[in-house]
Order: sequence, then structure tokens, then C-alpha cells
Amino acid sequence: MNVLDAINTRRSVRKWQKRAVAKTTLNKILNAGRMAPSPLNSQPWHFSVIVDRKMIKTLAASAQHGAFAQSATVLIVVTIEQSAKVDTWLHEHDQHIYSGVCAIQNMWLAAWSLGIGGCWITIDRKATEKLLGVPRSHVLLGSLALGHPTGKVHKHLDDDRRPLSDMVTFDSFR
Ligand SMILES: Cc1cc2nc3c(=O)[nH]c(=O)nc-3n(C[C@H](O)[C@H](O)[C@H](O)COP(=O)(O)O)c2cc1C
Repeated sequence: MNVLDAINTRRSVRKWQKRAVAKTTLNKILNAGRMAPSPLNSQPWHFSVIVDRKMIKTLAASAQHGAFAQSATVLIVVTIEQSAKVDTWLHEHDQHIYSGVCAIQNMWLAAWSLGIGGCWITIDRKATEKLLGVPRSHVLLGSLALGHPTGKVHKHLDDDRRPLSDMVTFDSFR
């Protein structure tokens, strides 16, 4: 699957088979996260890979919009090291934090291209920090629930997204 096909066909998948994701596949997904861009190549992210059923269930239960994630076979929790090796100006602009979003999107697209369905799950900050023992120096970004999709994954509808003309301007904001 080429990059544009992956971008245009990817959907949020919220139902999964019980079958585990193979280690080699999981490694490819994690490596796609590793290859994400970051300011000054600081690579400030940490990927906590959760495969323990009980832990996945606990995190899913704490997520206001993610109870379904309890049936995911893998949950990748992404946190960012706040003292990332970037300069003050980049830090003031939170650029290190945003690079973690690039990592999540890379992993999501890589998973999709490998036949693995995923959904970004907004997990509860306090519950996650406590369960995983996230160091104080890290900020929680979110998580990616993954697994082999079950049921039909619907294609995007034409009106799923606002039209380009609604979101793009040239040369000035208006
Ligand atoms: C930052 C972010 C947070 C999200 N949090 C949730 C969530 O907590 N639960 C959920 O079901 N989907 C979540 N999503 C997925 C969006 O609902 C989904 O991407 C959007 O509806 C578009 O659908 P699509 O991914 O199939 O194109 C999140 C997506 C992003 C980018």
C-alpha cells in the first residue's frame, strides 16, 4: 500500500478479533513511530506497549470515549519527555510535544498498511500515570488501540471531511 492510499483509506477501527498481533508486525508498527520527525531530532517520545488484558481493560474503563478499547489486543500509550533536548524557543512552542502526534499517526498508518486496525483512544491522565508509573517528567499524549479488525470497516463517505475550500487559504488567513 502506498502512502497516499494508506492516508486516504485509513479508518478508526473499534472492533477487534481476539487473535494477537504478531511480534514482527508490532515491531514494524513501533519502528514507524521511531522514524517520526521531531524538533532537532530530539525523539522525545516513549511508547508503553500494553498487552496485558487486565491493564488494557483498566485503561479502557477510564476512557470517557474508549470503553470499546477493552477488546483491543494491544494498546500503545505515548508519552513525551518534557525535558526533551530542544532549545528554549522550541520548547516554549511545545514542538517536542507535537512530534509525538507524528509518531502516533505514523504507527496508525503503518498498522493500517499491515492489515491491523487501530483507533486513537484518549485515555485518562491520572489513571494512566498511576497504572503505568509514568515518570513526572513525561506528559501523556494518548494511546493507539490495535488489533485484527473484525466486521466491516466502512470506507470514508464523501462528506466525512470538510471540503478543502473550507480549510485552506493562500497567502493570508482569510
Ligand atoms: C487526538 C485524537 C483523539 C481521539 N480520541 C478518541 C477517543 O477517545 N475515542 C474514539 O473512539 N475515537 C477517538 N479518536 C478518533 C476520532 O474519533 C476519528 O479519528 C474521527 O472520528 C475520524 O474518523 P476516522 O479516523 O475513521 O477517519 C481520536 C482521534 C484523535 C486524532
